Amino acid sequence: MFDQIEKIQAEIEAFQVDSKESLEQFKREFVGAKNKIKDLFKGIKEVENERKKEFGQKVNDLKNLAESKFAELNNSFEQQANTDAASGIDLTRPGQPIELGSRHPITLVQNQIINIFNRIGYNISEGPEIEDDWHNFTALNLPEDHPARDMQDTYFLETDPDMVLRTHTSSVQVRVMENEKPPIRTISPGRVYRNEAISARSHCQFHQVEGLYIDKDVSFADLKQTLYFFVQELFGEGTKIRFRPSYFPFTEPSAEMDISCPFCKGDGCNICKKTGWVEIGGCGMVDPAVLTNAKIDPEEYSGFAFGMGVERITMLKYQVNDIRLFFENDVRFLKQFNSVL
Ligand code: DAH
Repeated sequence: MFDQIEKIQAEIEAFQVDSKESLEQFKREFVGAKNKIKDLFKGIKEVENERKKEFGQKVNDLKNLAESKFAELNNSFEQQANTDAASGIDLTRPGQPIELGSRHPITLVQNQIINIFNRIGYNISEGPEIEDDWHNFTALNLPEDHPARDMQDTYFLETDPDMVLRTHTSSVQVRVMENEKPPIRTISPGRVYRNEAISARSHCQFHQVEGLYIDKDVSFADLKQTLYFFVQELFGEGTKIRFRPSYFPFTEPSAEMDISCPFCKGDGCNICKKTGWVEIGGCGMVDPAVLTNAKIDPEEYSGFAFGMGVERITMLKYQVNDIRLFFENDVRFLKQFNSVL
């Protein structure tokens, strides 16, 4: 019987009360009308006479222990309920919904582009936005005083005339070629800067995705097929592509790539200026001089590159008619892309 006392004492001490229900259970087991301690009292018959007094004392102590623990717990629960009521908090009411933000449309489209190229084995590479002359221009076959530098109005750093805010992400292809051995298959997304007047059509900052593929025997046919696949994935099946001969110092031959207008499907509308076509980027076979600058042997390797503007593609895909909207961060505009994945 003495063992029983110790056992119940241990139970009382270990009992964890963390809710009204568990408090009720404590009450039932140790202080209620029929409880374990009362049962112990009944067992006094079995205790030998000379220890009956000691036994009675111990059970009484146990009863006191149970009652004081119950009183204490009961008190703290009541206090808690009082403070909740006094502070006017109704814990049973549903919580306030947390408003979730959404991704910026440029991020969304950039991610879509990245995903498409990831699926055909392209990795992602990044470079600095403050770039040196070599990577932004010279290594790309745009030596100092080359007239083609005028194609991109450049911000120079006052403190160091050798440094510019990169005018395109083509600078990253030079960095990749310098650091990796072919085969290379990479896309370089990022922000670029040009000293241009801000209007509905152009901005002084925007985003580009540059692509580069270098291996043995890469041909213009590979370039066309890769971009054809990309356009079908991004703009939907049936989108046509066309290449127009163009000039970029870092590619030879070079082309500008158009897609059939996503709005009128080629019939002619205001967006495509009634031509049925819209331009989405430049591309071409990497000029052997650029390979040589990056220490890749043009006799052994060839490759293609392409570059496209993310704002332009987003405007075409989601019918946005003013590039400035992307930089104003007006939630009424941004919210509309909530459900776009
Ligand atoms: N860097 C060019 C620009 O910003 C775009 C471009 C054209 C990238 C042709 C290329 C390319 O890789 O082959 O206008």
